[in-house]
Amino acid sequence: MKILAIETSCDETAIAILECDGDEQSATFKVLSHALLSQIEIHREFGGVFPAVAKREHAKNLVPLLYSALEEAEMLHEDSQIFPPDMYVKVGDFLFREEGLTEHFVHFIEGVERPPIDAIAVTYGPGLAPALWVGVNFAQALSLAWNIPLVPVNHMEGHFMIALAKRDVEENLLSIENVQTPILGLLISGGHTELDLMENWLSYRLLGQTRDDAVGEAFDKVGRMLDLPYPGGPEVSKLAERDREDSSTNSFKLPRPMIDSPDYYFSFSGLKTAVLYTLKNLLKEKTLVSEREKEQLARAFEDAAADVLIAKTVKALEETRAQTLAIGGGVSANIHIRRRFEEKLKNDLPYIDLRYPPDGLTGDNAIMIGLAGFYRFLHTEFVEAGTLMADGNLSLAAPLPQRAK
Ligand code: KG4
Ligand code: ZN
Repeated sequence: MKILAIETSCDETAIAILECDGDEQSATFKVLSHALLSQIEIHREFGGVFPAVAKREHAKNLVPLLYSALEEAEMLHEDSQIFPPDMYVKVGDFLFREEGLTEHFVHFIEGVERPPIDAIAVTYGPGLAPALWVGVNFAQALSLAWNIPLVPVNHMEGHFMIALAKRDVEENLLSIENVQTPILGLLISGGHTELDLMENWLSYRLLGQTRDDAVGEAFDKVGRMLDLPYPGGPEVSKLAERDREDSSTNSFKLPRPMIDSPDYYFSFSGLKTAVLYTLKNLLKEKTLVSEREKEQLARAFEDAAADVLIAKTVKALEETRAQTLAIGGGVSANIHIRRRFEEKLKNDLPYIDLRYPPDGLTGDNAIMIGLAGFYRFLHTEFVEAGTLMADGNLSLAAPLPQRAK
């Protein structure tokens, strides 16, 4: 079956088309197209994501991305149809909030053949509500116009699933197979830091999450303190690596908040503040912090964050007897965190099957939404266009959205 997936939860607008085969035991996904527009450059001048700007950009990008995605998948065939007036009104109900989108959408749909797509998967949460709504409404309009079933997807389930996937580069194929349950998911992104246990396929238990900042958010804030461009995560990581090449010891000592708490909760706000105070102390004696000091501080921060993530995750692996560890979300690209997990598991829990996303798929993308959408499709979890609501605070352990009759 072929799935068209849409992602607009934050600052990436993405549409992917996947050919999916198999079942929960063994599934393969051929990536027919992957169209993505990142808004990072636009948000960089604000030093972070601005929801109103994100929403406007998604609205502007969705039709052109749909065009590219269909074209790349060789599903773009010109046609000329007239949209029935009642359909125009219904689609307009979804799209009128974004200036010009209804006209743009209708014009596009009138000019192309309905593609051979079996389901439309869309992220409906968690994320920035205004950004999510654009994708949700676009997907509802598309589902209605083409009469294709709509599958709502939890963005975090997308991060979870893509972390389990392996890529066959030659075949341009992703596969999820030979996964032993229970699976522990450590999901680390700009908005989330959580440990979820998947005991049975698609049924999650939230073990713990951050009480304040997400780890990616802390990386970004530390990046800003060190005058690095947004997003700070990859930049902080580069500085930290430079210090590790230069020195075997860490020059600054930073706290490891909640590392010994008897639960699976995290806190990264105190660690971020500790970086700020260290910087302020340095600036008591001079006006500028040196590049070397920035590298040392970045390393101390990254070490502390990695220590906490590892301690909590290992405790959860031991206590839940999980067989697989899936590390997903934007921060799972961090090479130091990966290296530390590999070492720790090799030494202490060698039977754990450690997985993270294929290269280039750690951050937000629509392929991961297609993967999660496929499993939800297998469970016939469809909703009727017009009934789906975006939910900025959606949790992985939340009840499923209402089903269409
Ligand atoms: O999953 P994602 O793309 O978006 C959200 O759903 O939040 O994650 C983005 C986060 C940002 O905070 C970014 O700084 C962080 O992932 N990130 C990294 C690295 N690459 C991206 N953090 C640390 N090290 C990295 N290499
Ligand atoms: Zn994400």
